[in-house]
Amino acid sequence: MAMQTIEELFEHELKDMYSAEHMLLGALEQMAGESADREIKKAFVQHRKETQAQIKRLEKIFKSLGQKPKAETCHGIEGLLKEKKTFMKERPSDELVEFFNIGAGQKTERYEIASYESLIDMADKQGMLDAVELLEQNLQEEEAALNKLKMIASEFDVQEESEEEEEEEPRTTGSRR
Ligand SMILES: [Fe+2]
Ligand SMILES: [Fe+2]
Repeated sequence: MAMQTIEELFEHELKDMYSAEHMLLGALEQMAGESADREIKKAFVQHRKETQAQIKRLEKIFKSLGQKPKAETCHGIEGLLKEKKTFMKERPSDELVEFFNIGAGQKTERYEIASYESLIDMADKQGMLDAVELLEQNLQEEEAALNKLKMIASEFDVQEESEEEEEEEPRTTGSRR
């Protein structure tokens, strides 16, 4: 039967996020492994732990609906993971992979933030107070993760490989190759 109620939409979106969080467990582990910088590695490892707790909270909501937790492929996150794969085909330096991950992490957090805000709105409209509280906790962790990544990005220094060569060349202004 066709989907008609906000309850059904809520369940659909819940399954989508349940899928997203599971995919992100793998992605966060991979990005932690690709981080040479201790602070960045720590941020990904910590957010992976939070993600495990987020999955548990989603499971509680499924339970409150009298349902078994179920994932429905989140194509948004799937798309972001595909972008990473495409980028890796360019054979980027380790440092660029790290910088890419910081940006990809921020895109992911924004996606999750939008998703949780919308789930909270739907739960709120249905008077599901416990679900609202659990989803708010997930939302707060995503927001904190985004802020952390923003800070890391602003402090990240990318070494210009061609820097030395450029300095030896006479400076020309206003011309491009
Ligand atoms: Fe998450
Ligand atoms: Fe997240």
